[in-house]
Amino acid sequence: MVVTTQRALFARLPKVPELMPFMPLADGLPTPVEQVDERLWVQREEHTSSAYGGNKVRKFEFVFPVAQRRGGPLVTAGGIGSHHVLAAAVHAERHGLDVDAVVYRQPVSDDATRTQEALNRLANVHITRIPSPYLMPAALAGRLAVLAPKRPYLLWPGASTPLGTLGYVSAGLELVEAFEQNGWPEPHVVVVPLGSGGTAVGTALGLAMAGWTRAEILAVRAADFVVTNRAVLSALEAGTAALLTLAGWRPRPVRMRIARQWFGGAYGKPTRAGDEAMRVAEEMGLTLEPTYTAKAFAAALDQLGRGRRVAFVQTFAGPHASTAAG
Ligand SMILES: Cc1ncc(COP(=O)(O)O)c(C=O)c1O
Repeated sequence: MVVTTQRALFARLPKVPELMPFMPLADGLPTPVEQVDERLWVQREEHTSSAYGGNKVRKFEFVFPVAQRRGGPLVTAGGIGSHHVLAAAVHAERHGLDVDAVVYRQPVSDDATRTQEALNRLANVHITRIPSPYLMPAALAGRLAVLAPKRPYLLWPGASTPLGTLGYVSAGLELVEAFEQNGWPEPHVVVVPLGSGGTAVGTALGLAMAGWTRAEILAVRAADFVVTNRAVLSALEAGTAALLTLAGWRPRPVRMRIARQWFGGAYGKPTRAGDEAMRVAEEMGLTLEPTYTAKAFAAALDQLGRGRRVAFVQTFAGPHASTAAG
């Protein structure tokens, strides 16, 4: 595993690594961008890390060093089959850190079961189960209080704080670089799944920083409205842009739209469009999961059907990552 400290964002704004906490964790950057159809490109984020890939590790690089300095466990939360919790536990274990996770129920799927089993195999994880995501704030506060003497760090669910979101700015920059290097035309739309928002907001800022003015980010809602709404995304964008401004960037507006119709009413609940999208993706050599990427890919296929050029951000680490974890 060779982890370098080169990141697309640092090449653009060299002050970022001087001003922000940073701990290199990802060994697969830049991730490949592949053209899989005449008007469809895929940014393969499953390759971000050989330890546990997908979209979390880019964000962890900016928040883990804060936790490490505090020295206590990372307190976080997610669904029982959460990739965020598992990815946090895998990367934390490699750096001698513990994870204290609050997990809530979600619909059963092969992917959720695999992820849950992997989490149970890890020795550095303590789990508190709660029946509903709405109890999460109280449960997190309770764990933080109990662990206070150990100096815990609140790893925001999804790691989508302004600091964590800096990690995804590099992904947006890398996407534009890949298009430019290959002479591909700017897509009309860049489709990403929307959970805690860091992937969508960071990518959108990266596209704006690289000078794409046409492509719109389509953030496909995969979690409850309480977290996936315009106000949350705007606040995250403002906070992240403020950090970038400290490093010398003059903020530009991002082009982002939230697609609501692919959600299907509940977090983690498979949808017919998502299942069909997973099947189509498999034929293209892409393995997706039902909670996030299947719903986002259904939106991407819909955009393709409307004659648009589409870049899809494949944020799932892949089933092998959960199987290997622990
Ligand atoms: C596979 C996958 N894609 C996308 C997301 C959502 O990303 P974000 O929380 O940055 O919106 C998640 C979040 O857990 C995820 O596991």
